Amino acid sequence: MALVNSKKMFEMAYKGGYAIGAFNVNNMEIVQGITEACQEVKAPVILQVSKGARAYANHTYLVKLVEAAVKECPDIPIVLHLDHGPDFETCKACIDGGFTSVMIDGSHLPFEENIALTKKVVDYAHAHGVTVEGELGTLAGIEDEVCVEAGNESYTKPEEVIEFVTRTGVDSLAIAIGTSHGAYKFTPEQCTVNEEGILVPPALRFDILEEVSKKLPGFPIVLHGSSSVPQEYVKMVNENGGKMPNAIGVPESQLRKAAELSVCKINIDSDLRLALTGTVRKFFNDHPEKFDPREYLKPARANIKELVKHKLENVLGCAGKADECK
Ligand code: G3H
Ligand code: 13P
Ligand code: ZN
Repeated sequence: MALVNSKKMFEMAYKGGYAIGAFNVNNMEIVQGITEACQEVKAPVILQVSKGARAYANHTYLVKLVEAAVKECPDIPIVLHLDHGPDFETCKACIDGGFTSVMIDGSHLPFEENIALTKKVVDYAHAHGVTVEGELGTLAGIEDEVCVEAGNESYTKPEEVIEFVTRTGVDSLAIAIGTSHGAYKFTPEQCTVNEEGILVPPALRFDILEEVSKKLPGFPIVLHGSSSVPQEYVKMVNENGGKMPNAIGVPESQLRKAAELSVCKINIDSDLRLALTGTVRKFFNDHPEKFDPREYLKPARANIKELVKHKLENVLGCAGKADECK
């Protein structure tokens, strides 16, 4: 089937208590790893492209890679989404250039400016059948060029969401409830230690999510910064020449809970990067004589596929939901 926008997916995810995985794509192996997993377990999927990805791989290459995935994975609906659209012009270029969904990230702007910018994008996108994600509240970490230092992040204010959604006409809303971008989401000092000696991060602010959902019944909420930072891959990186001390993510149990509530889209990028980098580092360590990229990218792609399959089946709950989302 052709690329779709996110409308039906979110409607079904909300009703069914699951979330759609939104995975960042930057090259062929990442696109293949994700979509092969989705095709295998019949999961709908959002492939998202950041401004950085467009700068790295080129808009046309990314669109063509995703179009190839659509052809190779005929049983699943796929959305091509702009992640953290920084301005109207980038959103317009993506809408004109084949994307079926865009995010306009005005979260760093004053409320009225965020509304004005988001509404401008919504008006253009809806005229072209494209769905739009807006954001209220800021996450710590890097949102492309907007780098929010830990401590300067701010949770979404539930009292603002009705006005924002009504005045902009957005189709989904990203909120800040304690997640952040990257592989260092919590410091060890913020965590408690469980019986097995494993660091347990503080809980996400489900009270804010619930307040938002009460104000916007039936409306799809998006969670950014939702990598779990699998410790097996952190270990693989660190045992093979890498240095990622104290990399900590969001526990998968918390994401599962969010998916059962109003969260319909869960963004994952860092976990894919870790799977790829850990695998390649280990390969180089084990086979210092090898230099054929196919030899090390093949296991990296296979591990991305396994990781995504695990997320679809055990975290997001969207495995087997492809048909109902068409
Ligand atoms: O939200 C951030 C995503 O992980 C994309 O990261 O801007 O480095 O492509 P990037
Ligand atoms: P992670 O860094 O937690 O993977 O978040 C990705 C993201 O939010 C992309 O928009
Ligand atoms: Zn994000």
